[in-house]
Amino acid sequence: MRKLLAPALLGALLASTVPVQAATAPASAPAPILTSPEAKDVWTHAEPEQARVTHVALDLDVDFKSHTLAGTATLDVLAAPEATTIVLDVKDLAIARVTDGQGKTLAYTLGAKDNDDLGSALTVRLEGAKQVRITYRTSPQASALQWLPPEMTFGKTKPYLYSQGQAIHNRSWIPTQDSPGIRQTWEATLRVPGDLVAVMSAEKLSGATGEKLPDGRRAFRFRMDKPVPPYLIAFAVGDLKFKALGPRSGVWTEAPMLDKAAHEFADVEKMIDAASALYGPYRWGRYDMLLLPPAFPYGGMENPMLTFLTPTIVTGDRSNTDVVAHELAHSWSGNLVTNATWSDSWLNEGFTTYFENRIMEALYGKERAAMYADLDWDTMMRDIEGMGDAMKPGMTAAPSRLHGNPGEGELDYTKGSNFLRMLETKFGRQAWDAYLASYFDRHAFQPQTTAGFLKDLREHLLKGKPELELDLQLDRWAYAAGIPDNAVHVKSATLARVDERLTAFKAGGPVGAIDTKGWSTQQWLRFLNGLPREETPARLAELDKGLNLSNSENAYVQSAWFELAIANHYEPAFPALADYVGRIGRGLLVYPLYKGLMQQADWGPAKARELFAAAKDTYHPETATGIARILGE
Ligand code: BES
Ligand code: ZN
Repeated sequence: MRKLLAPALLGALLASTVPVQAATAPASAPAPILTSPEAKDVWTHAEPEQARVTHVALDLDVDFKSHTLAGTATLDVLAAPEATTIVLDVKDLAIARVTDGQGKTLAYTLGAKDNDDLGSALTVRLEGAKQVRITYRTSPQASALQWLPPEMTFGKTKPYLYSQGQAIHNRSWIPTQDSPGIRQTWEATLRVPGDLVAVMSAEKLSGATGEKLPDGRRAFRFRMDKPVPPYLIAFAVGDLKFKALGPRSGVWTEAPMLDKAAHEFADVEKMIDAASALYGPYRWGRYDMLLLPPAFPYGGMENPMLTFLTPTIVTGDRSNTDVVAHELAHSWSGNLVTNATWSDSWLNEGFTTYFENRIMEALYGKERAAMYADLDWDTMMRDIEGMGDAMKPGMTAAPSRLHGNPGEGELDYTKGSNFLRMLETKFGRQAWDAYLASYFDRHAFQPQTTAGFLKDLREHLLKGKPELELDLQLDRWAYAAGIPDNAVHVKSATLARVDERLTAFKAGGPVGAIDTKGWSTQQWLRFLNGLPREETPARLAELDKGLNLSNSENAYVQSAWFELAIANHYEPAFPALADYVGRIGRGLLVYPLYKGLMQQADWGPAKARELFAAAKDTYHPETATGIARILGE
C-alpha cells in the first residue's frame, strides 16, 4: 500500500529534485529527468540516472503476412561517466543482434519476462558507445499492435495496422526506455505494402503517399524533433485518405468515412485557437486526426500532431467532439507537461478533462460545457459508489494501480478535473488561467509529479494568499480518499429538463410523451442512465420500440441501453448486443456490458463468456486482456 507523505516531507523531497543534464551539451540539450523518490517509475527497467536514451531512430519493415515488424532501432545514449551498461525495456521482441553505431558487436543480456505488463530488461554493455543499434523482430502478439483483417475496416478490402502505446505497450515494438519521465526525440522509416499509407505522430518527411520502392512497396519517413515520452510514438498503416480542415489541421481516415469525419470535426481549427488563447501557444506545428476502425480501444489517444480517434464519436451531430477537445488539450497537459509516472496520471487526465471543458465552453458556451461537466459529476459519483468502502483512493494511486486497466483510474479524470475547477472558483478565472498558462510554459517538455504540481501552485499562485491554504484542502484533494466538501458541482439546465422527462416516465408516463428529437448524446445518456435498473419486459419493449434503442446509430445510446437490457435479462436485445460487442472495441462502451453480465449471478457469466469467445479476435490485445480480467479468466 502507498504511504501518504506529509506535505512538508514531500516539499523537501521535491527540493532535492535535480534535473540531470548532458555533461557536454549537444546541439539541442536532452530533456531533463526527475530523480526525486516520488518520481521513480516502477513500470520501467531503465536506470536513467546511469544511462538514458535521448533519441530513437527506427527503420522497420511492416509485414502483414507474418504480422511482424522487423528492422533496427538506433538509440542515442547519454551515460554517466561511471556507467558501463544501459538498461532498456523490451517485451516479446526477438533480438537478432546489438551493435554500436559503427556496427561493432555489443554484449547484452535479456532478462526473464517479469510479468505480462512489464516485459523484460535488455541490458547492453556500452564500452563507451554513444549509440546502440538493435536488430529485432516483433511478436505477432505484440501488445501495442492490432492487425485488422479487411473485414474489420470501413473499406473491407485492405488490412489495417495501428499501435497504441499508453501506458507501457510500446516496448512490444520499440526497444527503448519506456517510461513517461524519459523524453526522447525520434525519427522513423516504415516500409509498407505499395497500396497502403503509413502515418505517424510526427512530422511527415516523405509526402502524403511516401516514396515508391523498386520492389513495389512504399517507404514513409517521419521525424519528431521535440522530446516526447515514448508512449506517444504511434503509427497506423491502412488505405488512408486525407482531408484538410484548416491551415494546420485535417483528418486521415478510410475513404468511406472521410466526408463524415470532415463534417464532424469541422470546428477543430477554432478549438486550437481557443486552447492557445487559454493556456499558451500550440507548440506542435500541425494538429491532424486519424479516425480509426471501431476496434480502436479508446475514445481518443493524444498522439502528438496526430490524435487517434474512435469512429463511435461520429454521430452526425458533433455532440461528441468533447473527445477531440480532450485529445487536443493533451497537447499541453500530458504531452508538454507529462506525468512522471503512471501513478500520477491524474496530472495528464484530470488537467486535460478540465481544459477540455474550457475549450468546449469557449466554442459553444456555458450551457453546453455544463452538460459535459454535469455528466462527469454523475460518473464520478457512480465510480466512487462502485469502489465500495474498502477503496476510495485519492488522486495519486498506489504504484500497483497502473492507469489503463479497466475499472481503475477513472477518478483521475473526474476528481482531477473537479480539483482544478475548485481552484478556478477559489482564485477566480483571471488569476487561475494566468497561473495555468505559466505552469505549462515553465514546465514545458518536462515530467511532473503530484508533489511538484502542489509545490509549484504554492509558490506561484498561493504565495500572495496564504490565508487560502486551509480553505483549499490541497492535500486532501491530492492524497486522501473521497471528494472534499469544497467541490463544485456544475449543473446543466438542459439535463435538468431531461430529468423532468425521466420523472414523468418513472411515474408511468408513456414513452410517446418523450420528445427525443434533436437530443445530443449527453441528453440520451442522462435519460438512459437515469432509468431505474428494474423494468418490466413490457416497459423495456416500449422503450426499445419507441426510441429505436437496439438499432440506434449512436454507439453511446446502444451501450447505455444494453446495460439496462442486461440488468433485466431482456433477451430480445441480445442479438443486437452480440453484434455490438463483436464490432465495437472501445473499452468505455463494452467493459460495462461485460461487467453487467458478470453481475447477473445465474445466467450472466455464461453469456459473457459466450459473447467474449465469439468477439475476442476482434479486440485490441489490451481490450481482450481487460475483458478477460472482468470475466475472471
Ligand atoms: N490518454 C487517454 C487514453 C488512454 C488512457 C490510453 C489510459 C491508455 C490508457 C485519452 O486521452 C483519453 O482519456 N481518452 C478517453 C476520452 C476522453 C474524452 C475521456 C477515452 O478513451 O474514452
Ligand atoms: Zn485523456
